[in-house]
Amino acid sequence: MVGFQRISESVVILSILYILSCKSGVESYNVVLSANFGDGSHYIAMRAIGEGLAKRGHNVTFLVAEGFPHQTRHHEDSGLFHFERFRLPGLKENLEDAYDRLGYLTLANQKNNGEIFKVMDTFKTLNKDACSAMFKDNALMERLAAFDAFVFNIIWPCAVYVKSYLELHKDVEDIPLVALSNTGLNPYILWEAASPFFPSFQPSPMSKLSPKMTFFERLRNTLTYLSFICSFWRTVLSEPFNDLIDEYDLDPDLRVTMSNHVDLYLINTDFSIDFPFAIMPSVIPVGGLTARPAKALDNDLEEFMESSGDYGVVVFSLGSYLSTVTTTRPEMMKMFLNAFERIPQKVIIQSKKGLSHDLPQNVKLLKWLPLNDLLGHPKTRLLVYHGGASGLFEAVYHGVPLVVMPVGGDQCDFSVKVVSKGIGVQLDKDNLTAEIIYERVTEVLGQPAYSASSIRISAILKNRPMTAGDTSAFWIEHVIKHGGEYLRPSSYDMPFYQLYLIDVFLFLFAFIFIVSWLSFRCLKKCFRKKSSVKPKKE
Ligand SMILES: *[C@@H]1O[C@H](CO)[C@@H](O)[C@H](O)[C@H]1NC(C)=O
Ligand SMILES: *[C@@H]1O[C@H](CO)[C@@H](O)[C@H](O)[C@H]1NC(C)=O
Repeated sequence: MVGFQRISESVVILSILYILSCKSGVESYNVVLSANFGDGSHYIAMRAIGEGLAKRGHNVTFLVAEGFPHQTRHHEDSGLFHFERFRLPGLKENLEDAYDRLGYLTLANQKNNGEIFKVMDTFKTLNKDACSAMFKDNALMERLAAFDAFVFNIIWPCAVYVKSYLELHKDVEDIPLVALSNTGLNPYILWEAASPFFPSFQPSPMSKLSPKMTFFERLRNTLTYLSFICSFWRTVLSEPFNDLIDEYDLDPDLRVTMSNHVDLYLINTDFSIDFPFAIMPSVIPVGGLTARPAKALDNDLEEFMESSGDYGVVVFSLGSYLSTVTTTRPEMMKMFLNAFERIPQKVIIQSKKGLSHDLPQNVKLLKWLPLNDLLGHPKTRLLVYHGGASGLFEAVYHGVPLVVMPVGGDQCDFSVKVVSKGIGVQLDKDNLTAEIIYERVTEVLGQPAYSASSIRISAILKNRPMTAGDTSAFWIEHVIKHGGEYLRPSSYDMPFYQLYLIDVFLFLFAFIFIVSWLSFRCLKKCFRKKSSVKPKKE
């Protein structure tokens, strides 16, 4: 017995030594992740990258705004990561207010573009003010100068300006910078990465098109693509931060492009669900950062799931910012409840605010859903939702079919994919009745083909060498070690007409034209000679 204990003790010590020796072989880097302000799906996606980096032995710090509840839902995070905070009074309240207004406007019966633009302006101002707040915090900037790399979400590109500041004014040498885009496929990122985008077969965001397009659809797609690039530049990237460039004397090229500063682009794409397209080597597809094996649910929820018997459970969520639907569109919520009341399944509904009317027997209402864990539960049969990026990947990862009701932004793009891949059906928010909802829900629940397609795509998505978080961590480490310069195509240094071969084609056309013209002249001359000879003979 004692001998056995000795052996097992030495095995443990040996293993520890082995692990330590492995760890010390890898250099540990200090990486800062800017997860926007620190809550919501952007934080959860960035968190997967943070976990991947921590697993590889790196020291991960999250840059968040004070007052955001990033740790309350993820208590384990404070053990895993460090946190740096910046302060902008009122940010959380103003942001929540803007999201509520946007939720209200997008769900409203009548389109009000003027109001929507106003909300967009609010987001723009908040993004700019939050970045200014960072610049004003000199101690924070000094601490940021000590990091080996920055990873930021493209929705809030403040890190690019911080990097420029540190390099120009704090004597910091080239800091590797990695951009993450975790919404739908964003052509602006591909543009910055000099990665080609062909509107001939790549549906542009918000076009509601699939890859097979008629002439007029291609025309519409091209125009949508160009206006997307312009408006993304104007409202999200670059333009909102132009004042900072003057105020802090930053790299003036940032007015036009951030590509001189970014080494790597992580994009939320996986070809199991996305239509195929070409990408440059600096663009790494990391689709489904938030999709992962399900964790156990809490007892209360687990009991509810089990009580559904063989019928299983339907999950209904319009995401956190639309979950005000109960108060903004009570009649819409009522339609969903009337439809759900008629199905034998149990239903879990997310809503931030309570309901004014009674819930049907089979429905449970929650303020917040552990969506990935619910979708991974064996009792879950269907997700009814608004078409956000993370939800789609989580559903597909767990092989769950969908009913999608897109309400705006990139959601209609996902809806097109869901329908064309045969993993679900669509609801039109402007043409909704309890009967239509009931029909769509029972159609997907009743036909095994939808769930079979989702299970097939799930197998493709899972059949990859590393998870999306580990892939991201691997590539971040790679550009810290080797830089991203060698990934840059020379197309960055070419003028437009050279890149698109306009000069070459013009030359070829001119050449063909001249040769044809000369041959024509020649033939004409010969012919004339012949015909002028002929009459003489006769
Ligand atoms: C990890 O990063 C934090 C900054 O967030 C820093 O205070 C700490 O010293 C770092 N740890 C190591 C081992 O470098
Ligand atoms: C509304 O949906 C119903 C059922 O799918 C369909 O028959 C009808 O044409 C739609 N109406 C409009 C205006 O799209």
